Amino acid sequence: MRKPLIAGNWKMYKTPKESLAFLERFLPLVATHTRDEIALFPTMSSLGYVIEATHGTNVSAGAQTMHWLNEGPYTGQTSPTMLASIHCTHVLLGHSERRIYANETDEMVNLKLKAAIGHGLVPIVCVGETLEKRQSNLTEAVLRWQIANALNGVEAEGSEALVIAYEPIWAIGTGSTATPTQVSEAHRIIRREIAERLGQERANQTRILYGGSVKPENTAMLMAQPEIDGALVGGASLDPDTFARIVCYAS
Ligand code: 13P
Repeated sequence: MRKPLIAGNWKMYKTPKESLAFLERFLPLVATHTRDEIALFPTMSSLGYVIEATHGTNVSAGAQTMHWLNEGPYTGQTSPTMLASIHCTHVLLGHSERRIYANETDEMVNLKLKAAIGHGLVPIVCVGETLEKRQSNLTEAVLRWQIANALNGVEAEGSEALVIAYEPIWAIGTGSTATPTQVSEAHRIIRREIAERLGQERANQTRILYGGSVKPENTAMLMAQPEIDGALVGGASLDPDTFARIVCYAS
């Protein structure tokens, strides 16, 4: 059984004060929730505050990105050692916005994934095709390529915590959610590729989340698909009531 993970990616939103105000409202709303794991990904300047405020609760906190090295002359970067040292437990890797605006490549995602595994962080590797690739029937090729490259040199043993997030770029922040059929199809492709790389057993255990315009209105429909093991929510995770409705969707 794969325990679903509902994650909120706050992107470049919320100061520490705004993050704490969110938690004050959100934590009581989900305090008794055990069906799904819950994680929040604040921006780096709020991360320490969110880790402290969620300590001992059923909500985890993670970073939106990290470098793969432990330290070095890399201005602006944060290392896996540094994240682990502040009790950060999760990390997003290769989000499409990082790939587009920070030129993150598949090779970098691979290095980061290995570093996250080495530091005991839960890595959430984001993959997904552009609208152009989908319309050219290249969705399968893109997803297989991204997964194969991310998992290059990764072993089944040690990658127990691996999570994949399928986020079609055309569905991010656009309001046009992928259909449950489109998502299930993509998740099957991803799981097959994981099986080829890490074996069927690891593939069966790996959670594959969907991200792209997830809202309270479409969560139940998406989560009803056996292939969908959770959601990575952007815009709709910024409001505590809305995100609590997503987490507590009626199945
Ligand atoms: P939206 O939910 O705003 O479409 O963003 C999805 C996303 O990028 C989550 O990582």
